[in-house]
Amino acid sequence: MTLTNKRILLVVGGGIAAYKALDLVRRLRERGATVRPVMTAGAKAFVTPLSLSSLAGAEVHEDLFSLTDEAEMGHIELSRAADLVVVAPATANLLAKMAAGLADDLASTLLLATDKRTLVAPAMNLRMWLHPATQRNVATLRADGVLFCGPDDGAMACGEFGPGRMSEPLAIVAAIEAALAADTTIPLPGITGQPRPLAGRRVVVTSGPTHEPIDPVRFIANRSSGKQGHAIASAAAQAGAEVILVSGPVTIPDPPGVSLRRVETARDMLAAVDAALPADIFIAAAAVADWRVDAVAPEKLKKNGGGAPVMTFAENPDILASVAARNHDRPALVVGFAAETEKLLDHARAKLARKRCDLIVLNDVGACTGTFGGEDNEVTILTAEETIPWPRLSKVEIATRLIALLADRLGPAS
Ligand code: CTP
Repeated sequence: MTLTNKRILLVVGGGIAAYKALDLVRRLRERGATVRPVMTAGAKAFVTPLSLSSLAGAEVHEDLFSLTDEAEMGHIELSRAADLVVVAPATANLLAKMAAGLADDLASTLLLATDKRTLVAPAMNLRMWLHPATQRNVATLRADGVLFCGPDDGAMACGEFGPGRMSEPLAIVAAIEAALAADTTIPLPGITGQPRPLAGRRVVVTSGPTHEPIDPVRFIANRSSGKQGHAIASAAAQAGAEVILVSGPVTIPDPPGVSLRRVETARDMLAAVDAALPADIFIAAAAVADWRVDAVAPEKLKKNGGGAPVMTFAENPDILASVAARNHDRPALVVGFAAETEKLLDHARAKLARKRCDLIVLNDVGACTGTFGGEDNEVTILTAEETIPWPRLSKVEIATRLIALLADRLGPAS
């Protein structure tokens, strides 16, 4: 069980997505976590404390000034007796209170008093999410180190469509696993003895999709979520490496303990990678767009009754191949991914040779596999000499194994 003995303090905010918090509790407990639930007054309008406490197998805390609760465990202690604080759903109001440091009920007081990492899963109407006030609060919270999972795009309870839906419980579970795994990666003064096989090494990882603009409002993208690349960056940091993560646009939380460079296009990604090198290991987990629109329209393309526009495309630079081809400062290990839908092994072997990398992680991204955006993956590791199939694993587990394998190949830094 991936979360055995992990203690989650779950703050449930007042929104329709509160019903998903019930499933989240179930999923967390299935994985061995203990969940201590806290509800805001608003949350009780959507789900009952009885449902939440039944699923959590624990008392629900709701009142800042409850004598019984304080006698059992004071709210300061409650805020700290956890490995991770999770807010799901995190309403616009809760985010605003967190960003401002307001503490006018039990939930907001715990969030202000905690010394633990906090992960929030926002859920609100899309206009509330896109409102400059909320976006300012999100930026403040990110700068404070708060981790974000979502929100997702989709149909909302209010009938509108867009960003603001709370991430699905399994996606939140994955973000919790990543946050807890990454937590140990932050070098804490005075803590020694963790295995850090990549100590003294520098690792550059690409992750997520790239967006290639058509005009100021449209772009071409792909289904990559960035989960695998971000998990690899986390695992490398956990192994003691200095990690630079070059990420395309994603909605998953930033992994702690890594230096993040956000980019949009393939050409931006190449420039950021070039700037981040030299490194001991380069891992290309991004799903880079192979083509970009040749002539990006400076203004929004209008219909004007003239039929559909005709676009021509230019080929994007191949970042992986260009890193592998570097002469004097080629990373000792250059690792690529092969996203294939047919003739998997043949195509991946050809890619290994063509791009001159040392190792390829082959994954099947066919429509029915759920790999893009999913929590799990089934990969095969290819080197010039070997073909090693791995069982179906979570992306976090694949990342940990991959980093262990690379650390082993590299040996300790001199
Ligand atoms: N890659 C890259 N730059 C590109 C395209 C791909 O760095 N412009 C990297 C990816 O990050 C991945 C590997 O190359 O590590 C293979 O990507 P994939 O999409 O599977 O292959 P392509 O090179 O795009 O080839 P094809 O479209 O023919 O499958």
